Amino acid sequence: MGKAEGRPRRQAGTDHGYHLPVMADEITEQMVIDPDGMYLDATMGGGGHSARILEKLGSEGRLLGLDRDMEAVERNKATFANEPRVRVERAEFSRLAEFCAPGSLAGALFDLGVSSRQLDAKERGFSFTPGTALDMRMGSEGPAASDLIAGWDEWELASVLRKNADVVEAKRLARSILAAVEQGDEMNSDLIRKAVEKLPGVRDDNRNSLLARVFQAIRMEVNDEMGQVDAGLKAAVASLRSGGRLCVLSYHSVEDRRVKETLAEFEKDCICARNLPVCMCGSNNRQLRKVLRKPGLPTDAERDRNPRARSAKLRVMEKV
Ligand SMILES: C[S@@+](CC[C@H](N)C(=O)[O-])C[C@H]1O[C@@H](n2cnc3c(N)ncnc32)[C@H](O)[C@@H]1O
Repeated sequence: MGKAEGRPRRQAGTDHGYHLPVMADEITEQMVIDPDGMYLDATMGGGGHSARILEKLGSEGRLLGLDRDMEAVERNKATFANEPRVRVERAEFSRLAEFCAPGSLAGALFDLGVSSRQLDAKERGFSFTPGTALDMRMGSEGPAASDLIAGWDEWELASVLRKNADVVEAKRLARSILAAVEQGDEMNSDLIRKAVEKLPGVRDDNRNSLLARVFQAIRMEVNDEMGQVDAGLKAAVASLRSGGRLCVLSYHSVEDRRVKETLAEFEKDCICARNLPVCMCGSNNRQLRKVLRKPGLPTDAERDRNPRARSAKLRVMEKV
């Protein structure tokens, strides 16, 4: 992966006010191996990566873009309206097999998490700016965050905080949040912020990061993000052709761990149960190999110009 990073580029079809694509040079370089192949952008967002992939495709190349967010889908349909090589569908990426035949893809990209647009639009209820009603749904299905929290008991909320964001103070925090709910405090960002602010034993300079992780944990539950990662990556592996490349961008340790573990299952030759004394499966089950031995990281230049890129990790695999 080249270290040298050029100046910020503006591509046709991207609005960097919506979302600045992360590690786009590295991804297109690693993933677009056949200009006439069929590619999947499983998380189209503002269409930035899609536009960059298209730049490398020939006239026979095709790009399928998915997003669960209607606003993103409508925006991409408009952006790529005159682009016959592109198809845009509103769907969760766990459903990608409905759109891609087994063995059809030359490359697939998963840029996980939320877009800058989703985070910034107060009405979407992701941000912790004061007075934000907690919605956090990327799509429109399922309950909003506030309804989910209201239905959780202390144990459920604590386990969400722990499993999705490694929150050590999960139990005490869950108790404090639910006490405020019971008192009838309005269920918005202020309620969560106050619970974090008054939690004893947390250093003041750690409170903002704790608040961000609490929001992350709730958002991940609202959108079943880890379930989506499991199902989406499995479906993508089945849809890749031999030699096809899978690129996954993750942004925090829990997400990256899940990606790593899910992909590792496809690197195994032997898939027998551990308690079997001898291999019964034929030891010929490997479906992926690492293209990058270690996850790729953004350059310093990209980190400087795009704070969202700072925590990014890029994993690139090839179907064998
Ligand atoms: C980080 S943004 C992608 C940004 C995009 N790569 C770009 O260049 O603008 C993540 C996008 O993925 C979408 N998304 C997240 N989880 C999804 C899922 N399970 N299925 C489909 N879309 C999903 C979100 O709605 C959001 O628009």
